Amino acid sequence: MLKIGVCVSGGGTNLQAIIDRVKDKTLHNVSIEVVISNNKNAYALERARQNGIQAVCLSPKDFESREAFHEAFMSTLDSFGLDLVVLAGFLVILPPQMFPRYNNRVINIHPSLIPAFCGTGFYGLKVHEAALLRGVKLTGATVHFVNEETDGGPILLQKAVEVKDGDTPQILQKRVMEEAEWTLLPRAIQLIAEGRVTVENGRAVIGEGGVAG
Ligand code: GRF
Repeated sequence: MLKIGVCVSGGGTNLQAIIDRVKDKTLHNVSIEVVISNNKNAYALERARQNGIQAVCLSPKDFESREAFHEAFMSTLDSFGLDLVVLAGFLVILPPQMFPRYNNRVINIHPSLIPAFCGTGFYGLKVHEAALLRGVKLTGATVHFVNEETDGGPILLQKAVEVKDGDTPQILQKRVMEEAEWTLLPRAIQLIAEGRVTVENGRAVIGEGGVAG
């Protein structure tokens, strides 16, 4: 059983996609142990509670220092004995002590085809605004392993999504979620649960599978 923790800051539609796939058993041998948010008003926390998943709010604002927040964040993760940490719209910079401790055990979903429109400052609607401004005809989503470099870790899965005439950032964001993000993230988790993913020379490699699903 792959024990996962999901870190969120907002609405949590990606979290919901994971919950739904666990429920309908598309995602098997996976258990969502905890949902952590830095924002107590995040609807994602409500989604967790409604589904009987432990919901924890850890906000840097509630701590005397960044270091104290980092300590609390790390000990919360550690206390759940997680195999994998999933960042699904988590807008907090991870504690430096995450690495190498959680090397290749943290994944993130980013709403573009990395290396386009990624890195510091590219989050939420800003990603889609930049894609529209550049006039790309294809955008998409990427699931990647997380390392010290923002959006710079090994790429695990990508899916392209068409940009259409008349798109606004909001319309494009919705299409990228519906056509890419909500399937890509559960699929990435399943591949990891099946023991099919290794990282070799800084690249994620998907194998034929060992551990039965
Ligand atoms: C998604 O677009 C995801 O790619 C990005 O943050 C957004 C989170 O949306 N990292 P939601 O909270 O899952 O609805």
